[in-house]
Amino acid sequence: MNDTTRAGDPGRVLRAVQISSLGTYVPPRVLTNSQLEQMVDTSNEWILKRTGIRERHIADDDVATSDLAVEAALQAMAGAGVTAADIGFLVVGTTTPDTFFPSTACLVQDRIGATHAWGFDLGAACSGFTYAVTTAMQMVASGVHDHALAIGADVMSRIIDYQDRTTCVIFGDGAGAVVVSPAVDPELRILDFAHEVDGSGGPALRMPAGGSRLPASHETVDQRLHYVHQDGAAVFKFAVRKTSEICRRILDRNGLRAADVDLFVSHQANRRIIMAAAGQLHLPEEKVVINIDRFGNTTGATIPLALADALADKRLKKGDLVLLASVGAGFTVGAMLVRWAY
Ligand code: UT7
Repeated sequence: MNDTTRAGDPGRVLRAVQISSLGTYVPPRVLTNSQLEQMVDTSNEWILKRTGIRERHIADDDVATSDLAVEAALQAMAGAGVTAADIGFLVVGTTTPDTFFPSTACLVQDRIGATHAWGFDLGAACSGFTYAVTTAMQMVASGVHDHALAIGADVMSRIIDYQDRTTCVIFGDGAGAVVVSPAVDPELRILDFAHEVDGSGGPALRMPAGGSRLPASHETVDQRLHYVHQDGAAVFKFAVRKTSEICRRILDRNGLRAADVDLFVSHQANRRIIMAAAGQLHLPEEKVVINIDRFGNTTGATIPLALADALADKRLKKGDLVLLASVGAGFTVGAMLVRWAY
């Protein structure tokens, strides 16, 4: 154990773990608000004002979640200077796996040629990425594996009802992946995570049919039950409250204040949610990363897509203290503190 170990703390580490690299991918096709105006009764003004979204990327019909995940994973591995053979474990946070089984993780493992890796899919909806990074981190922290891939990837357009204006304007498709490895500098590492679930919130955001509770039938298709159903206002309120609550908790227990945070990278579900939570945390706008305008809500991919933009814009630099936060269907809630390693 090194001196970063804190007994009894869920973020405790046996060896310090860093995020070594990041890869992202979005399909090239763009769906703009004005195109949506032709599809449902909505307007560019409403979408922009109520969500902050201008456009989102949509996968072609023959593209599935694993296709996006593979692109992101290859980019992440190249960035970290590791080969597929170096990967011992991979986890894919996704709500839209290619199939129930085999898992998308198995499809990705095969496609990237990670012949020594094992892995699985993780269902945490919009917290898929934070939960995947946490899971991968444990594999490396414990010493079991040296390099692990954590992926958040979704083709939300496959489960969105493009006749329902309350949901179809929000979502987009994308993928992000990170390689996690033992920290080169023990100061530059994943510092902590704080996650919780509140299953009582399940009815507020769900896909009612297609599982063992309500298998696919002509009726479920006719009733449009294979799409995302959401109580937007309930999710909105929960997301604002919980994002700020979990962030405050993780900062407090690490003896940090909002002023210590260099960058706040929250799940991108709605610009108003992010800004309200940031306001409650007293985080100024310049520390908040928002790119929902270009991608919409890509579920498992929003946080890596936002990190990638921050890196490209040089807003995210080696040594920065990054606060990640997510709230998703379940409800799932997550926060991570990362001292950025590159
Ligand atoms: O990643 C986690 C997943 N999801 C979320 O985090 C989403 C959380 N919720 C939200 O982001 C917001 O609740 C929405 C964006 C979904 C909705 O925004 P809102 O400001 O909460 O709108 P609302 O549901 O209160 O609806 C206000 C009005 C309604 O009309 P009436 O009843 O006032 O006449 C809606 O029918 O806006 C109407 N409306 C729309 N109008 C134009 C709802 N969707 C649209 C639309 N275009 N696309």
